[in-house]
Amino acid sequence: MELTVRYPQIDYEKCFPNWAPNLEFAMFMNAFSITPVFLEPYIIKVFADARKLLDPVRDEQLTKEVDWFVAQESQHYRQHAKFNRIFQTPRFPKVEELGKGFGADLDGFRKNRSLLFNLSYTEGFEAAGGVFYRIWFEKLGKYRFGAREEALLIYDWHFAEEFEHREVAYKLYMALAVRGNIFRKIWYAYFYRIYGVLAMLGHSGKYSDAVRQHLLETYRAEMSPEEVEASKKREKAFGKFLFRSTIVRLLGVLSPWYNPARKPPPEGLEAVLTSFDRGGQYSSTAA
Ligand SMILES: [Fe+2]
Ligand SMILES: [Fe+2]
Repeated sequence: MELTVRYPQIDYEKCFPNWAPNLEFAMFMNAFSITPVFLEPYIIKVFADARKLLDPVRDEQLTKEVDWFVAQESQHYRQHAKFNRIFQTPRFPKVEELGKGFGADLDGFRKNRSLLFNLSYTEGFEAAGGVFYRIWFEKLGKYRFGAREEALLIYDWHFAEEFEHREVAYKLYMALAVRGNIFRKIWYAYFYRIYGVLAMLGHSGKYSDAVRQHLLETYRAEMSPEEVEASKKREKAFGKFLFRSTIVRLLGVLSPWYNPARKPPPEGLEAVLTSFDRGGQYSSTAA
């Protein structure tokens, strides 16, 4: 595995909040973009706490991968913070407040919950993220068609790197949670891991959905009744499409045999990564 960190060059200033022909899809992705800005700095702190508990000899390779994961995530949340400026404006007053609430909850998790809870929450994000990025690359063609390139690029780059480091949170969680007796193995390798996935989905989903609704409400306040109806119809259709595409793949994450190492790369992954590699078309670093 090559441990690469990429530095994209994308001008989001040209990209306005409604960047896709399908408004409801764009607002769904905008709302999702709130999460990395709070979640990824939180994950970096959780990983720093966990890293101290690794064995310098036995976990030498994992430690290197943890550092690489952290380096990639550090770029992810910075780019999302830049991207979010397109809708983190007075026009959408609740976005900032909701984001801060999410961040405060995560701080609370670190202060008041166990490291294993925080690691299982993190692994939940990485695993559920893995379900979504496959859909992003392989199923969302009709929604992506005609959308602004700047917005597509941030997700292409972010999700491609999420695939690259898909195993790290799982390995770190397993290394610290599962070593020990058989009961610990069964409890933490399966039940507690699933709890982490569900806790993450419920918690972060609540915030990103509130942001999405706020963005849509703002747009709908400026629409005619007919346009509002059409928007609601599109929202319903997108929701159905997403549910259908997600549910079976999510069951894979909940399986006792789940192992992110076995995931095949999403279609087109190599081309995306290459375009952000040093000297690539969208890289800020020369070859
Ligand atoms: Fe990320
Ligand atoms: Fe990640």
